[in-house]
Amino acid sequence: MKVDGIHYRSIWLNDDGWSVDIIDQTHLPHEFIIRSLRTVEAAAEAIAAMRVRGAPLIGATAAYGLALAMRAEPGDEALAQACDRLLATRPTASNLQWALGRMHPQLAELPPAQRAEAAYALAAALCDEDVAINDAIGEHGLEVIRGLWAGREGAAALHVLTHCNAGWLATVDWGTALAPVYKAHDAGIPVHVWVDETRPRNQGAALTAWELKAHGVAHDVIVDNAGGHLMQHGLVDLVITGTDRTVRSGDVCNKIGTYLKALAARDNRVPFYVCLPSPTIDWALRDGVAEIPIEERDPREVTAISGKTRGGDIQSVQLTPDGVSARNFAFDVTPARLVTGLITERGICEASERGLLGLFPEQAEVAA
Ligand code: MRU
Repeated sequence: MKVDGIHYRSIWLNDDGWSVDIIDQTHLPHEFIIRSLRTVEAAAEAIAAMRVRGAPLIGATAAYGLALAMRAEPGDEALAQACDRLLATRPTASNLQWALGRMHPQLAELPPAQRAEAAYALAAALCDEDVAINDAIGEHGLEVIRGLWAGREGAAALHVLTHCNAGWLATVDWGTALAPVYKAHDAGIPVHVWVDETRPRNQGAALTAWELKAHGVAHDVIVDNAGGHLMQHGLVDLVITGTDRTVRSGDVCNKIGTYLKALAARDNRVPFYVCLPSPTIDWALRDGVAEIPIEERDPREVTAISGKTRGGDIQSVQLTPDGVSARNFAFDVTPARLVTGLITERGICEASERGLLGLFPEQAEVAA
């Protein structure tokens, strides 16, 4: 997608041929800062500190992190240590395990001298695959939007509510939940997006709003608790979110607060779709609520908030009384029964094991 007319992916190889460049998302929306990662430790830090975030981009950064590790030291021990370090960064998004699980065995088979070059090639291929997957998700999601728009002729806009940021910044390009929105906008359908602010990290207010504004898509940022009210008043036609891990039963894990949106959507008969790239499917798990590890982050993300002052400085301020205790659960699980459909790169299915296996029959043998 474009920033000031220049096409960017969210991660790319530097012109030096080996450093890995990222857009440091902790500075958005106020500053656009590119940072070069030169060690596996820098890649791990970027994931843990959420300089890069979003399940697909976490996987892509881990892949390049492994390439950086192999460039520095390609032995078996270094390979195992790099995987362990990267896996320890964030526990919930399955793309991290998927990317490392794909690369590790292929690299381990090679003589150490060939590993760095192979790792860079595998990471680049993984990034290209992510872009193709999201492009296809966008096309399938566009048909959902077209169908809903066809039933609302005469309305000023089709209102889509989204939670967190599942746009191009969360992937290598396109995004998952926002890919259909961008394609609908480009096809001339007047989409308007309700953007949940997404406390505590404000990925909606900071990142989704920044992306939509850059692309010219109409939107309004709302507080996280507004969605139910809007749905009761007929102001939401469709909810679309991304996911960090979806298990084979169709239970969907996504940013904290997604479950409450799904409940409100069900109560108001608003369709609730989840855009699901196949690397985000955890075929080994079946019960999302019981089995998905939910990241708990630093409570200071809840007790403080950062933003731009009138003077233009970026500052963090404390919201809560001194010494107050807080908990910071980063994700929740929406049971499959509340999901209208899963939009994958192979098409749309019901949120169930049967639905998913209908699109991915090769996974039928994986033990859950
Ligand atoms: O904590 P984050 O910002 O990494 O969480 C991101 C989300 O919850 C996204 O909705 C999810 O990763 C899907 S991104 C295409």
